[in-house]
Amino acid sequence: MNLLSLSSKHTIKIGTMLGTFLQQGDVLALEGTLASGKTTFTKGIAQSLNIEEPITSPTFTLISEYYGKYTLYHMDVYRLDSVEDFLNLGVEEMLYGTGICIIEWSDKVKEALPPSTIHITLEIPENTDHRIITIKNWPYGEIVI
Ligand SMILES: Nc1ncnc2c1ncn2[C@@H]1O[C@H](COP(=O)(O)OP(=O)(O)O)[C@@H](O)[C@H]1O
Ligand SMILES: [Mg+2]
Repeated sequence: MNLLSLSSKHTIKIGTMLGTFLQQGDVLALEGTLASGKTTFTKGIAQSLNIEEPITSPTFTLISEYYGKYTLYHMDVYRLDSVEDFLNLGVEEMLYGTGICIIEWSDKVKEALPPSTIHITLEIPENTDHRIITIKNWPYGEIVI
């Protein structure tokens, strides 16, 4: 499934719209270069979970935890060197728990992700504020807007 975002606000709205479908235990793997909108998209998901705390990039903290309709574990694994380091953070409880996990730069730890992981890629068409958002393994049917 492909969606086109025209602005960062639009990416937040798309995240909010998709977030309303999510169920406890869902894992979202986000791929895309720096500034492709992974954290912006996560802000939208957080809105759908009624999380009031502002979402900030977990680049340095690696994992941030937010409380809303479900717990949101927001991870950025860019700085990790191995899947082992990822597992040593205690992520299995989160990946197989009752919250929602969002993992930025997920390709680095793909071996550790559940088979049901929803894969979302953000691409930047050259010289635009647009983003092409590709969703794979989406379990909630065709999105009709
Ligand atoms: N359509 C868009 N969707 C998301 N972000 C956009 C878009 N257009 C411009 N931007 C800008 O790109 C940057 C995305 O940053 P961020 O979400 O932190 O990306 P990442 O987490 O992938 O590094 C922000 O500065 C945002 O304002
Ligand atoms: Mg980010």
